[in-house]
Amino acid sequence: MTELGKLYPILILGAIIGLMSIVFTVAYAMMKNKKEAIGFDRNMKDTEIVRRLLVYAKPHWKSFVLVWIIMLISIAYDIISPLLIGRIQLVISESFEMYELLSIVAVYAGILIVSLISTYVQSLILQKVGQKILSKLREDTFVHIESLSHAQLHSMPVGKLVTRVTNDSNAISMMFTNLLVNLLKNCFIIIGVFTAMLCLNYALTLMILCFVPFIILFTVIFRKFTRSAFRKVKDRTTDINTFLSENLSGIKITQIFNREERKFSEFDEKNRALGEAKRRQILTFAIFRPTVYMLYISSNLCLFYMASRGYIDGLSFFGQKITADVLISFYMYITKFFNPIQNLAEQFNRLQSAFASAEKIFTILDMEPDVVDEPDAIELDGVRGDIEFRNVWFAYNEDEWVLRNVSFRVNARETVAFVGSTGSGKTTILSLICRNYDIQKGEILIDGINIRKIKISSLRRHFGQMLQDVFLFSGTIRSNIVLRDDTIPDEEIIRTCEYVNANHFINKLERGLDEEVRERGNNFSAGQRQLLSFARTIVHKPSVMILDEATANIDTETEVLIQDSLEKMRNIGTMLIVAHRLSTIQHADNIIVLSHGEIVEMGNHFELLEKRGKYYGLYMLQFKREQLTAKNS
Ligand SMILES: Nc1ncnc2c1ncn2[C@@H]1O[C@H](COP(=O)(O)OP(=O)(O)OP(=O)(O)O)[C@@H](O)[C@H]1O
Ligand SMILES: [Mg+2]
Repeated sequence: MTELGKLYPILILGAIIGLMSIVFTVAYAMMKNKKEAIGFDRNMKDTEIVRRLLVYAKPHWKSFVLVWIIMLISIAYDIISPLLIGRIQLVISESFEMYELLSIVAVYAGILIVSLISTYVQSLILQKVGQKILSKLREDTFVHIESLSHAQLHSMPVGKLVTRVTNDSNAISMMFTNLLVNLLKNCFIIIGVFTAMLCLNYALTLMILCFVPFIILFTVIFRKFTRSAFRKVKDRTTDINTFLSENLSGIKITQIFNREERKFSEFDEKNRALGEAKRRQILTFAIFRPTVYMLYISSNLCLFYMASRGYIDGLSFFGQKITADVLISFYMYITKFFNPIQNLAEQFNRLQSAFASAEKIFTILDMEPDVVDEPDAIELDGVRGDIEFRNVWFAYNEDEWVLRNVSFRVNARETVAFVGSTGSGKTTILSLICRNYDIQKGEILIDGINIRKIKISSLRRHFGQMLQDVFLFSGTIRSNIVLRDDTIPDEEIIRTCEYVNANHFINKLERGLDEEVRERGNNFSAGQRQLLSFARTIVHKPSVMILDEATANIDTETEVLIQDSLEKMRNIGTMLIVAHRLSTIQHADNIIVLSHGEIVEMGNHFELLEKRGKYYGLYMLQFKREQLTAKNS
């Protein structure tokens, strides 16, 4: 064979690889939405993210150092084992000595065992640290979400928050436990294997190095494609989580309105979109992996071709001859060299994706709660219960005033009722008193102190809020009444339940206070839930009670019970009440009539009736309706 002829196989291989490089580069250049593929619309700098992530890793730095030391031991196997196998070949082919062979095998086994044990210990330590970091991250995120104001919470779908607390924090913990260690490990392996190969044979090492630029080129190209695929999968997962959490909560409405099919088709669309994104992700890897594998096979072929030619022709390069044991060691080294290079690329991708998760979590952690204690806010030891609104203006959304210039005064231990058509601002007034929102203009005073100057926690401690839609947590009746305050003894819970007339239905339950409450309290009636919310409020001994009565239909029997407990509660302290049944509030000291966010009338029941204004109209309407119902029944 001519000298040129000897090069043919290498030339053909080179041409194939060259052509593929051109094809992929063109595909890369033509890729649409490069910007989208490059990042996850990241605003934070990588360095900033790393700095903040390090805060979570810092308490565990000793474990990380230990892991890295153990990792170095486990790498020894990757670097030494090919040399030992080559050595075995040498022993077998040259001077066969059983003793020598066995000793090499023993060393091999020893290194293998040490490497396995160190890998095991390493993953044990990492998993432990990872779980700790994960739960810290989850806790921080959850606690922070809890500190956000009602307005901020309304602005984010629940599903999104769930994804942050679960998936995203998981991705970050994976980064600490898996990615960072493997990144470092792969770097060390590459350096170690490269050095070992150089010591064995320069010529063959240089030949293998020729393949590295192609691996890097392919990797860079595929990195963009995989990033875009990763991003799509992530976005669509969040999408489906958001859809699910909302629609599972509202599934009853879906059933009542026969909208199962329509909802299903919406879900199906999102599900397909996620499936499609996943398929794209898999396809990208399906092209990437074989391509790199092809490079690996090519380098092997080259190795065999060149090494055998060099062996046959007895070539030497810088005094290094090619022998059979060198060939075997190189054959093993190629895998150990290419694998980490390929892994590095994938790990960089995952690192990017973990950074994106980190940024998403940090964005939530950076959300400054907008209703916070002022620096000079004071602690209230007790509350008398004087409440005053002075020219209060409030809007949920800028310039859409929900309350306009509202002023009123409630003296301690008085009962004041708010009346008005739906949407007139009753619930809004009640939620402002506990600073669920901050007002834009005017002042709200408690015992003569502006509520902005009172610590929110102490404000809410003295105020018992009973909301319009009662929310019960899954748990037991007891846990829903005490809300994790374990210091409240059972006798007190029972006394409270008797006080608010909740004992009648609780006593009928098989397990009494220990009866299970299912999600949102769906195994109790609206009236029962209302009574439980009374008990929950009273048991914490508030000085001011705020009750937003539900409009839900309650049977007459429960209504009488509720009326009775309301009457009793009036004796506890100041009471602000929104009642839809005017009969409930006839005894109120003051009745405030609202219309479109403004106070239109104020006075007690009889004064307002005499006025013959809006209240009179509402009262007559209800009165007639009640008479009609009475006649019909
Ligand atoms: N979280 C919110 N974001 C934006 N607007 C809101 C929000 N909550 C209430 N609103 C608006 O504020 C107005 C007053 O609502 P509010 O809940 O105070 O009425 P309400 O008098 O309690 O009515 P109802 O008798 O039906 O309970 C309504 O027009 C409503 O659309
Ligand atoms: Mg309301």
